[in-house]
Amino acid sequence: MRHLLGMGDLDADELVEVLDVADAFVEVGQRANPKVPALRGRTVATVFFESSTRTRVSFETAAKRLSADVLSFSAGTSSLNKGESLRDTIETIESMGIDALVIRHAAAGVPVQVARWLSSTCVVNAGDGAHEHPTQALIDLLTIRQVRDPGGKGVGCFAGLAVTIVGDIRHSRVARSQVCGLARLGARVTLVAPATLLPPSLEGWPVEAIGHDLDAVLPTTDVVSLLRVQEERGSGTYVPSLREYAHGYGLTAARAALLPPDAVVLHPGPVIRGVEVAPEVLDLPAVLVRRQVSNGVAVRMAVLFLLLGSGDRPSSGSRGAGGDGASAGGLGPGPGEAARTVEVSAVDDA
Ligand code: MLT
Repeated sequence: MRHLLGMGDLDADELVEVLDVADAFVEVGQRANPKVPALRGRTVATVFFESSTRTRVSFETAAKRLSADVLSFSAGTSSLNKGESLRDTIETIESMGIDALVIRHAAAGVPVQVARWLSSTCVVNAGDGAHEHPTQALIDLLTIRQVRDPGGKGVGCFAGLAVTIVGDIRHSRVARSQVCGLARLGARVTLVAPATLLPPSLEGWPVEAIGHDLDAVLPTTDVVSLLRVQEERGSGTYVPSLREYAHGYGLTAARAALLPPDAVVLHPGPVIRGVEVAPEVLDLPAVLVRRQVSNGVAVRMAVLFLLLGSGDRPSSGSRGAGGDGASAGGLGPGPGEAARTVEVSAVDDA
């Protein structure tokens, strides 16, 4: 595969491959020197047109831990302000000799379009509008596997797993990527939200149930994934008030007590305390937000490694995204091949 644009084209084997490689990088992250030489000589550009704390820092940390050079582009201080087009900006960055471009944009579909423009650069979608955020979904899958099947390989722990996604599903790229990945691995997904924060159509969404009563589903939920009300996308106008939203859908201590004892709670961040989750709930051991963030570096190392680390720098055109190549496919070499390579690379500290 040339790019990671969405979860849709990753089959179950490829998902397992990413999780296994990410697991190897979790171990690397625990070393005194958490760096490996796998991408020495490669350059990763982070090109963010939307605010971000954890995703940008996480990708840049991942690239540096793989010994890649990092080029960090800020839209706000770029020639876009002088009228340069997105295409010219992107092609300018590519001309500097980059190997991967990690892009976030407020408009859905931009990473796919950018992949079509670029001739020799891998594109990773770091979130496009309300469309997809594939690396966040991969982080969530890894985090779930770590707690449901500690040390396990494979994805058997997802079969029949009851996952409840709560909140602003209408505007959430995380929810779209999660649903796709979880359903592919056999999890049973329930969506819970006020009717106004559900997408206008859920046709084709592989979910088991859709509801509005959070208290009713919590006792049979294995994993709760909370979503932020996306005020920057106008979500505030879809609910009477954030206070009312919190009253119906916030994970309070009383609601958390309804969960089975081994249930866990995820949140992609940023967390708005007191809205989607009560501050005291964030301190419960079942809440894995911090673990998601640290897994983020390992997952992004895995994605960059699988895209870039298995061969020589591509000559111009060899990674072109024309035609079908612009859709997200598998990740790099076949299952097993990359995982074997990472074991070798990971043991040689940079
Ligand atoms: C995103 O960028 O979509 C975040 O990870 C989730 C959020 O902003 O609420």
